[in-house]
Amino acid sequence: MRLGKAAFSLAFLLALLSAVLIGLPAAQEEKKDAQAEEPKPLVIPDEEKARKNPVSASPESVEAGWKLFRTQCLFCHGERGDGRGEFALELKLTMPNFTRAESQKNRTDGEFFYIITEGHDKMPGQKARLRPEQKWHLINFIRSLAPPEKTPEKK
Ligand code: HEC
Repeated sequence: MRLGKAAFSLAFLLALLSAVLIGLPAAQEEKKDAQAEEPKPLVIPDEEKARKNPVSASPESVEAGWKLFRTQCLFCHGERGDGRGEFALELKLTMPNFTRAESQKNRTDGEFFYIITEGHDKMPGQKARLRPEQKWHLINFIRSLAPPEKTPEKK
């Protein structure tokens, strides 16, 4: 009698648990869909836009940036930085093309720094994952993909 009751409560508990476990991902999925529809507008404070890059774009810095890029950014931004990374293609993400001087010139280093830190839309913010110095190396690397002399007209 006692055992029966315990078994019943156990079954009830399991049913409750699976309802929660099945319901939870579904709810998260819905939230994701809602986010996909309307990305938050990107608002970068003026003082962030004006932030100066303290790390000079030496070959060493660009190399350090590439090493970070290869392991943390390439699967979305692509090996050449053209935005055709495997992950981005699979998820059909709208990516910037870093190989185009045209697409880079609208952003200051400070803006890149802000976006890498905070993220935007499908771009994951790195916050504390990267030290400021590492972010500047990454930016120096990204800039090296489309040097000013390689403008689309001259290509
Ligand atoms: C999950 C895929 C993904 C990963 C990983 C990723 N990014 Fe991005 N990134 C994006 C998307 C998508 C955008 C465009 C976001 C938007 O529309 O505002 C973007 C935008 C950017 C921009 C802004 C470009 C512009 O002109 O507005 C920079 C800079 C950038 N990413 C750098 C990086 C760096 C550096 C890393 C690695 C530390 C990285 N990203 C990792 C997806 C990714």
